[in-house]
Amino acid sequence: MSIPQLDFDPYTDKALSDPFRHHDDLREAGPVFGLSRYSCYGMARYAEVQAALKDWQTFVSGRGVGLSDFSKEAPWRPPSLLLEADPPLHDRTRGLMNKVTALPGLKARQAEWNMTAKAIVEPLIGAGSFDAVAGLAEAFPLQIFPELIGLRDDGRENLIPYAMSVFNAFGPRNALLEQSSVDAAGASAWVADSCKRQFLKAKGWGADLFAAADRGECTTEEAERLVRSFLSAGVDTTVNGIAAAIQAFAENPEQWQVLRRDPSLVRKAIEEVLRYSGVAQTFFRTTSRELEVHGELLPEGSKVLLFLAAANRDPRRWNNPDKFDITRNASGHVGFGFGIHQCLGQMVARFEMEAVLSAMVESVEEIRVAGPAVRRPNNTLFALGSLPVQLIPA
Ligand code: HEM
Repeated sequence: MSIPQLDFDPYTDKALSDPFRHHDDLREAGPVFGLSRYSCYGMARYAEVQAALKDWQTFVSGRGVGLSDFSKEAPWRPPSLLLEADPPLHDRTRGLMNKVTALPGLKARQAEWNMTAKAIVEPLIGAGSFDAVAGLAEAFPLQIFPELIGLRDDGRENLIPYAMSVFNAFGPRNALLEQSSVDAAGASAWVADSCKRQFLKAKGWGADLFAAADRGECTTEEAERLVRSFLSAGVDTTVNGIAAAIQAFAENPEQWQVLRRDPSLVRKAIEEVLRYSGVAQTFFRTTSRELEVHGELLPEGSKVLLFLAAANRDPRRWNNPDKFDITRNASGHVGFGFGIHQCLGQMVARFEMEAVLSAMVESVEEIRVAGPAVRRPNNTLFALGSLPVQLIPA
């Protein structure tokens, strides 16, 4: 037996704009397959993707979670101390970040976030067609997330272009990456400055990290780089999570009615959005040793592309996987990853999505599609550029 080699290119604009139509072929190709254009391997079935995410000793992140292997090529930026780190370094930084982002502090913000979401949503109800990406999915996180970190007030418009270029950088050096790096050059410089102690406010997760540095729990340079992790991973992800939720309910109006009848389903609904929508489509790992997958040998140093979104719709794991069904038990999805690198900000994301959906559930009868959604191709995220909708009042 040999590993099937596919000519499929997951990084064309067309494939990035409509990835789900290729996932059946990827899952059917086998538990592991080659992607000949990039001399790497891929996995798209739930069991293998989840097992690889869990086995951090074999599927390492420290050699980069993009196509580039940091043991062969210089990293394109000083690597993330979380996402692109393995234990023991990862244990230390993750332990520190877990303390900074602990749940009680976050819960204390929930009431304020709910009020902010209501203030953004209310004027949109019955106001005709608007772009739910700019008007809601971006507007809400951009109001609350920079405050959570204690980010400076000027220049926050840099956050999204910066994040887009970061997520493009996990793919190949294609035109998308080139263009977004050019577009984000100023934004990247602004982010690098904004992570420094002197630019952060006295209160927020940024200041908490520098307080940890003062206690000797990390260095000042590490604190800066950990603030950068918040800014890289915490904005465009939630923007697209919120946009995906609005799109899923707009395209499946009966599911909005299910939620309206029983708003206590909101948390289940959020998990289903994360399973169904594939906001984080893919991440790479690198094999630290030769290993066997179902009788196939993968050499040491192989780059393996894990198709999280395909795993989340694998019929071997989920009944009727292409159906958006907020009553299903979606727990176990890998939309936030799995294992030691599972999303640090998952509770932030859940609380943000809950604030937006709860602000609409009583007063919006229908989230109506008001025009074609436009995708914004990205090498990692399944992102929306615009989403015209109307919020029909109850
Ligand atoms: C809907 C929103 C979000 C999605 C879909 C998402 C998705 C993910 C995924 C799939 C991973 C795992 C990557 C891997 O295993 O290589 C991850 C890790 C991470 N996420 Fe999120 N994320 C979201 C929101 C956030 C937010 C709001 C923050 C910050 C507050 C954040 C910070 C991080 C960090 C720092 C990591 C790396 C953790 C580690 O390596 O230990 N994410 N996220």
